[in-house]
Amino acid sequence: MTKPHSEALCDAVVTLYETGDLDDERLKWLIDADGDVAEALFAHAQRRRQQWYGRDVYKRGLIEFTNYCRNDCYYCGIRASNRCVERYRLTHDEILTCCRVGYELGFRTFVLQGGEDLSFKDDELCALIRDIKAMHGDCAITLSIGERSHASYEALFAAGADRYLLRHETANAEHYARLHPSSLSLAHRKACLFDLKSIGFQVGSGFMVGSPGQTVDYLVEDLRFLQALGPAMIGIGPFIPHRETPFCDEPAGSLKRTLNLVAILRLMFPKALIPSTTALGTIDPNGRELGLKAGANVVMPNLSPVEYRKKYTLYDGKICMGEEAAQCVGCLRRRVEKAGFDLVVARGDTQVDGYEARR
Ligand code: 5AD
Ligand code: FES
Repeated sequence: MTKPHSEALCDAVVTLYETGDLDDERLKWLIDADGDVAEALFAHAQRRRQQWYGRDVYKRGLIEFTNYCRNDCYYCGIRASNRCVERYRLTHDEILTCCRVGYELGFRTFVLQGGEDLSFKDDELCALIRDIKAMHGDCAITLSIGERSHASYEALFAAGADRYLLRHETANAEHYARLHPSSLSLAHRKACLFDLKSIGFQVGSGFMVGSPGQTVDYLVEDLRFLQALGPAMIGIGPFIPHRETPFCDEPAGSLKRTLNLVAILRLMFPKALIPSTTALGTIDPNGRELGLKAGANVVMPNLSPVEYRKKYTLYDGKICMGEEAAQCVGCLRRRVEKAGFDLVVARGDTQVDGYEARR
């Protein structure tokens, strides 16, 4: 199809804004929009996010508590077969200390993220969740620990976990098989996501932009899958190669495509919590600010102890490796405010009433 002129594409942005949906063909054009069309896309995304969240940006304290992983995803720096990684696990007390420090810094959501580390049994995780909730009852706990059994997800939810992040990575089964070994399947990943949702978690999913073999058609499939899932949170970021993975020589995903997709997601999922990711800040020094201006409303600074940070390298060049939590928050606050937003102290659940209605 020949490229529609920019007036027609600006009309497409308005349709997406008004209806929250668009046909595949025009979505594909918007994914690669530039110039006036991209400006219109960002302006409409801003307006939509303003309606639900105002200028508020929520911060989530990321605690990378284990880099042991049984999986071997071809893109990921902590994949099981990367023997160069020095493996670590934070202790129960170290994790609680991260939360205590985080609480003082104004965090009201803690994200416990780790590789798929089978040595963390349900009992241990549930005890941890209960202890965090006992200390900080006004905080939300988000888990990001991969695929587990239904019984495990139920136990974690019953212990008090509120949210669960599990990116689907790609909604196309062939592409999924290009990114993962045969022990992992898209069908199982999807089943886990629907399972988490039915248990009652606020569920987050998402994908990398520019992962090897990705096409614009696959990106549309990702958007359609998210529509079917109806997630509360959507995380996307550019793929960035890691030197000790099979994808070491692959190019990184593009800033522009990632930003356009953030804006498209804001228009398709007005109330979604969408982070401006560390990966976005890694491919461009201004990346996270641009993400916020494209419609993102969450940032996820690292609360992990600095001595462990370097061991949790999913991709090369990751930013914020040497900064203490307090420094990271200070830096992010300046960046968020300079971009015209407010970094707030709040759990930041999805909105049921619009922002204007709450004031
Ligand atoms: N580049 C960008 N993102 C990555 N992730 C893992 N490896 C990479 C990489 N090389 C993302 C995946 C995963 C999330 C925790 O980090 O999407 O779900
Ligand atoms: Fe971590 Fe800037 S946000 S150093």
